[in-house]
Amino acid sequence: MSPSQASSGEFDEPGEASAQPDVTGPGPVGARRRNGPEWLLYGAYGYTGRLLAMEALRRGHRPILAGRNEARLRELAGELAGRTARELARELGHPGAATERAMDGAAATEMDEEQGGALDPDAPVAPLRWRCFSLDDPGALREGLADVPAVIHAAGPFLHTAPPMLEACLERGVHYLDISGEVPAFEAAFALDQRARERGVVLLPGVGMDVVPTDAAAALLAEALPSATRLELALNSPGRSSAGTLRTVLEGVPGGLLVRRDGRLEEASPGRREFRRHVDFGPEPPGGVMAGRLGGLRSVSPYTWGDLATAWRTTGVGHVTCYMATPRWQVRLMPVALPLLRAALSVDPLRRLAGRLVDRGPDGPSPQRRRTGRVRVWGRMADDEGRWAEVVLELPEGYRFTAVSGVRALEEVLARSDLRGAITPAGAFGHGWVLSLPEMEVVERRGSAE
Ligand SMILES: NC(=O)c1ccc[n+]([C@@H]2O[C@H](COP(=O)([O-])OP(=O)(O)OC[C@H]3O[C@@H](n4cnc5c(N)ncnc54)[C@H](OP(=O)(O)O)[C@@H]3O)[C@@H](O)[C@H]2O)c1
Repeated sequence: MSPSQASSGEFDEPGEASAQPDVTGPGPVGARRRNGPEWLLYGAYGYTGRLLAMEALRRGHRPILAGRNEARLRELAGELAGRTARELARELGHPGAATERAMDGAAATEMDEEQGGALDPDAPVAPLRWRCFSLDDPGALREGLADVPAVIHAAGPFLHTAPPMLEACLERGVHYLDISGEVPAFEAAFALDQRARERGVVLLPGVGMDVVPTDAAAALLAEALPSATRLELALNSPGRSSAGTLRTVLEGVPGGLLVRRDGRLEEASPGRREFRRHVDFGPEPPGGVMAGRLGGLRSVSPYTWGDLATAWRTTGVGHVTCYMATPRWQVRLMPVALPLLRAALSVDPLRRLAGRLVDRGPDGPSPQRRRTGRVRVWGRMADDEGRWAEVVLELPEGYRFTAVSGVRALEEVLARSDLRGAITPAGAFGHGWVLSLPEMEVVERRGSAE
């Protein structure tokens, strides 16, 4: 089957699952079972899709790998089968993985249990099932979703890929989760809220670095300052983006810079005076590779994060502005450079050319970078009486975090029969759930009352 064919079907590798032991693991939210849940991972052979597959296998799930390129699905299934949870943890960059060999078996197993990993870290992963189908063929897409309770959609840009998958999930009664950070994709999901409720289906976009921790920051602040009318969020994520993320940014630039005002999305000029600000990302971590890059007072530039769609729904606060930490020289250039870039990238051939340049770079951060990288999230809410509250959160490197948060969110959706409709992570699970994810921490809380 060629990658360009719109085809569907399910192909089990020869010598199917029964020939090899299942990875024994705690399964969803700690329930111990020999066979973890089976669900569909679309975009499985992308950089982030592969990390999600590895994390799911490490936790004892049986994801069905899916995408539009049969050769790449076969290759991935072959590459993952037989790997052990310990190997997968090490490649993902989970802490302790490098030292596990030096620990005795009981200690290693205990650590894996703490991290929610497989009970036997050395059991090989059973052969994986995979399905090849295109999102452009509604019949094949519907067929591809047969007999699965849920999908994690990891094939972006979601501006293009979310609508057909959302529609198919609604038709088939399948829960939908994605790792989008794109406002139009979130809005497409929230527009289907009523249909999803009627169908008993969960639509949960944004289960990655954007928006899981930022949504938790918004929810925490709303609790601290119930009278708040304005929310600002900023991300400091030093390090490399994946090629897929960069291509998604190229697709999003023509949509312009957005903010939320009085509950409505508005386009904004990047040169607005209100955007000229610095953010205090909290104390620097002591020494190590991220020292000097993570905390402190940093210049930021406005950015169209997915939180413009989600934070308002989680908190009810109608004024939302998002930022990202940006070197000062880039902040100065932004008011001129962004409109020029927007005009250039609105021309299809130029956007395609930029995409080809991105393709020449690496797929994404290395395992070493995934292990050592850290991200800080800052949030501030204020009310009309001059009261304010701020919070700074820290989390692991963004792609590793996305693999962990995506799989945990799926477990939560499968375990909770009360969830329905289009939801946000903190809105559905509470900020406590987000903050309980591995290596998440509150670095600092500040406020006018403290
Ligand atoms: N919110 C977050 O925190 C977060 C974190 C990580 C990633 N992301 C987003 O997730 C997406 C994937 O990132 P990545 O790093 O994994 O990129 P990637 O390595 O380029 O992978 C993209 C995947 O999407 C598939 N795909 C793209 N367009 C498709 C289409 N029209 N139909 C079917 N499959 C399609 C690709 O398949 P082909 O090779 O066959 O085209 C590939 O499997 C990006 O949009 C990125 O921005 C978001």
